[in-house]
Amino acid sequence: MTATNSQASTEKSAEALSLRTPLPRDGAALHRLVENCPPLDPNSLYCNLLQCSHFADTAVAAECNGELVGFISGFIPPNKPDTLFVWQVAVDASMRGRGLGGKMLNELIERSGAHYMETTVTPDNAASWGMFRSFARSRDAECKDCGPLFERDEHFDGKHDSEHLARLGPFRKSE
Ligand SMILES: CC(C)(COP(=O)(O)OP(=O)(O)OC[C@H]1O[C@@H](n2cnc3c(N)ncnc32)[C@H](O)[C@@H]1OP(=O)(O)O)[C@@H](O)C(=O)NCCC(=O)NCCS
Repeated sequence: MTATNSQASTEKSAEALSLRTPLPRDGAALHRLVENCPPLDPNSLYCNLLQCSHFADTAVAAECNGELVGFISGFIPPNKPDTLFVWQVAVDASMRGRGLGGKMLNELIERSGAHYMETTVTPDNAASWGMFRSFARSRDAECKDCGPLFERDEHFDGKHDSEHLARLGPFRKSE
């Protein structure tokens, strides 16, 4: 392949990637994507369908050549209307390390207009901390580890690592 061809092919794959609001028809593909993205906990397909319908406004789907390659599920907690809670971030292994996670976070914070973002992360998930910290930096915001929100023994019956609350912000609309 010549340099020009290779550049054209990179541009083509960049063009083929699109971010959009999820639709109910994404539910089954989301279920498979999460199953293939450990350490994420798979949810029921019914839960994924709700994420793609009732909670679609606070979720984003990334599609490449007709395949679902990334997804963020989230919601606005009823007692924190200025905060977007990120439930799960999944990027297909073939698409990692290219900034897709950060792009989806940016799309959601812009679309929701939220001033803060919260999520929970296990202390050993370096990729997740790396992504949230990098995103906060890119928006000139802070990313604070607020300590355990749900604990291994007290909340997870000893079956899951403790989840730390991460709080990011404040975010201002980008110009
Ligand atoms: C976490 C995950 C979503 C990151 O997606 P991604 O598209 O590869 O992330 P990005 O390319 O946007 O990376 C953004 C930053 O994170 C850093 N990062 C990514 N993977 C990393 C890793 N394994 N270790 C350390 N840092 C990492 C990158 O270096 C980058 O930082 P930089 O901008 O300073 O260079 C992806 O690895 C994934 O789906 N993992 C499995 C599921 C999961 O753990 N989800 C998060 C918990 S909700």
